[in-house]
Amino acid sequence: MIDTKNITILAIESSCDETAAAVVKCGREVLSSVIFSQIDIHQKFGGVVPEVASRNHTIKINDTVKQALEEANTDFNSVDAIAVTYGAGLSGALLVGVSYAKAICYALKKPLIAVNHIKGHIAANFITHKNLKPPFICLVVSGGHTALLEITSYTTHKCLGQTADDAVGEAFDKVSRVLKLGYPGGPIIDKLAKTGNCNIPFPKANLPDFNFSYSGLKTSVVNYVNKAEMKKQSLIIPDICASFQSAAMDILIEKSIKACKHYGYRKLCIAGGVSANTYLRENAQKACLDNNIKLFVPDFKYCTDNAAMIGAQGYYNFIQKDFTPAPLSLTAMPHLKL
Ligand code: KG4
Ligand code: ZN
Repeated sequence: MIDTKNITILAIESSCDETAAAVVKCGREVLSSVIFSQIDIHQKFGGVVPEVASRNHTIKINDTVKQALEEANTDFNSVDAIAVTYGAGLSGALLVGVSYAKAICYALKKPLIAVNHIKGHIAANFITHKNLKPPFICLVVSGGHTALLEITSYTTHKCLGQTADDAVGEAFDKVSRVLKLGYPGGPIIDKLAKTGNCNIPFPKANLPDFNFSYSGLKTSVVNYVNKAEMKKQSLIIPDICASFQSAAMDILIEKSIKACKHYGYRKLCIAGGVSANTYLRENAQKACLDNNIKLFVPDFKYCTDNAAMIGAQGYYNFIQKDFTPAPLSLTAMPHLKL
């Protein structure tokens, strides 16, 4: 009989450009969280190069896992299970983590837990907010996803709406590239926007219900920049950043509050890399206060990709006995749906 109040999970994450490993106890207590970020490597290409990402995961994964075990003062034999991100993400990148986790589980006869990357982002909130429990509404905002979800339990949810085209993080990265600011665009735009004025009327796409669209906003910034360059007008970069950022974020906040009211919730979580955005955090907090809703956001270090969040979600899969039946059968699923 397994004591579910004393479960330690070794978690591995390699879906994009971070090689990460963590040891997490009972979904809430992070004993170690090691992240080797490849941002410096990909920066010169202006974005993530999938083949380069896979190769660097291969180089770094062993040391990253060993460091996580050491920092947690444990070893392979002492952990109860291995959790790994199996999708969504870059195919080759995911395969590195999945193959590594399968090998450990096979050799040590440990249970293998396959974790959906986005479920991990949501679970990052359980690490920061020890008393947070489902159900709640969650706004998921990352480089690949923009969605509003009703989180009905630790392992189940309903999708209330999502983007019809680009993800909001993708729009930040694209705008940053057009303005030649660097990669990843989110943190750079977030910082520059603080010194800018919100004086350019970029369009706020308003799709019905709880759906979103970012391709129009992205194109409108690209057109604005191209027109100015053709006319040899100088660009006020902080103003463009501030105007784009508010057009991108206000609609997310508006619809999140609307979803809470419509479905009768007083708890709103934000998850995914874009939840690190300071404008989003501050303005969502104001809107929540005005509407008597409690806002939950992860600590900054758990907003972007990390393995601790995979260990957190892994625990909830574990107690549901949601193991990969035959560990060697698990494969990476680049297009895994939520
Ligand atoms: O969740 P994440 O680390 O990876 C995915 O699962 O996609 O999210 C990465 C995305 C990138 O698009 C990045 O530009 C964005 O999150 N991001 C931000 C900020 N920090 C990261 N976007 C806006 N403001 C930020 N401070
Ligand atoms: Zn992510």
